[in-house]
Amino acid sequence: MGTVSSLPQLSDLDDQALRAHYAPLRVPWFRLNFVATVDGAAQGPDGLSESINNPADKRVFHMLRDIADVVIVGAGTARAEGYRPNPKPMVVVSRSGEVPPTLRERLGDLLMATCDSAPHLEETRSLLGDDNVLVLGEASPDLPMLRRDLVARGFRDLLCEGGPHLTRDLLAAGVVDELCLTTVPRMIAAQHLRITGGPPIDVGLRLHALLEDDGTLLERWVL
Ligand SMILES: NC(=O)c1ccc[n+]([C@@H]2O[C@H](COP(=O)([O-])OP(=O)(O)OC[C@H]3O[C@@H](n4cnc5c(N)ncnc54)[C@H](OP(=O)(O)O)[C@@H]3O)[C@@H](O)[C@H]2O)c1
Repeated sequence: MGTVSSLPQLSDLDDQALRAHYAPLRVPWFRLNFVATVDGAAQGPDGLSESINNPADKRVFHMLRDIADVVIVGAGTARAEGYRPNPKPMVVVSRSGEVPPTLRERLGDLLMATCDSAPHLEETRSLLGDDNVLVLGEASPDLPMLRRDLVARGFRDLLCEGGPHLTRDLLAAGVVDELCLTTVPRMIAAQHLRITGGPPIDVGLRLHALLEDDGTLLERWVL
């Protein structure tokens, strides 16, 4: 595939320059990171993002994790993708309050953001310790409060890796500063989640930066 030479190229940036390219515009900074196909699928044929991402997306995905202070993920994504503990503190957002099985291997830096009515609240409190369970509302966690609590814990660069339903709620709650979106040059049809799911919202975006890598677009959208 030919290169669209007028666009800035990912391959021209070494790791340090890539980090600078993705530096938060201010702190605290709350960013979403997603990959999708040109026809809007956020999942590939296997129902996961693994089958639609590519080396360019992986490079940015891992760099964003490296520069983040904390990784936030919806419980559905953690379950579907089999999230494992990683070196960064991680926050699982859940109404059920249940710690996904694959994250139980190492609990040290794991936080749960949930609500009073969560059926697994007590079990998760004894698993993670009271201080690591953020109870942020009655029926559903208050997402602006989540952001405030994480900032109060000293996290400045907050990275949310989805999924679509949590993303929709975060956008509706007005807590997101940026969407990093990788658009891969594929179309896969069929029924797949997009990067947002759930009831309608209408959120405007401004394109802040764009890189290209052999047809893959690496976008920074600011809200
Ligand atoms: N393309 C990409 O970059 C990308 C990124 C992430 C995910 N994905 C894909 O998206 C799919 C999962 O989609 P999804 O929409 O189900 O993911 P999700 O939003 O992570 O999961 C939904 C679950 O997360 C919790 N949750 C979501 N919003 C919440 C809120 N406002 N408050 C409290 N808990 C909340 C709930 O967990 P409980 O059930 O525990 O209450 C809910 O059932 C997977 O196939 C994954 O591969 C793709």
